[in-house]
Amino acid sequence: MSVTRRGLVAGNWKMHGSRTANAALVAGVRAALAGSSIGLGAQDVSPEAAQGAYTGEWSGAMLRDVGCSHVIVGHSERRARHGESDALVARKAAAALAAGLVPIVCVGETLEERDGGATAAVVGRQLEAVLAGCGVEAFRTAVVAYEPVWAIGTGRTATPEQAQEIHALLRGLIAARDATIGGSVRLLYGGSVKAGNARDIFAMPDIDGGLIGGASLKADEFTAIVAAVPG
Ligand code: PGA
Repeated sequence: MSVTRRGLVAGNWKMHGSRTANAALVAGVRAALAGSSIGLGAQDVSPEAAQGAYTGEWSGAMLRDVGCSHVIVGHSERRARHGESDALVARKAAAALAAGLVPIVCVGETLEERDGGATAAVVGRQLEAVLAGCGVEAFRTAVVAYEPVWAIGTGRTATPEQAQEIHALLRGLIAARDATIGGSVRLLYGGSVKAGNARDIFAMPDIDGGLIGGASLKADEFTAIVAAVPG
């Protein structure tokens, strides 16, 4: 049985822009993507579901309230710079789901880990933490983004074959718990995706779209990446 998965391309603006610049960016993206569904996403969410004294945090409910449908959890910049553990990422994914948001769960190995032959172990551990914390059912909704840390913002992309290998592994881990969910879960690739390399990456059988950093800051580049999703 073959499953048709709907493509998804997410832009991760990080800490860039201004109201004026981003209004122009949104206008450019909307004009070019007329007819596609466009949603608003956040870059992080509190693991706490209920409101309370959590300075600097925002809950899933607050994100919904301002119109978000998606949220990134476990981006490598959060893991590396803010000390986020696999367990915390799992709690954030659970909080996002409880609020009705689609979590985009990021996993990925460092260059040192890749060179040491630990890629499968690292991304497997990161994904298993979310499977253990949220259950496989979470992946009826949740999306996984494979982002090798060495490819983020470096201009050095994984080859389509390298990315496909890890995507197949991630899908297999989910399918081992539930074959249907494994077949339907959407897996994105992220790390120096550009208009010029997106088509080859998105052509891979287990890659359903991308999580785009730098190239999402230019409307024409981003919309060209969206256009590279097959189907
Ligand atoms: P990049 O970032 O596209 O600039 O490499 C991707 C990301 O951090 O999500």
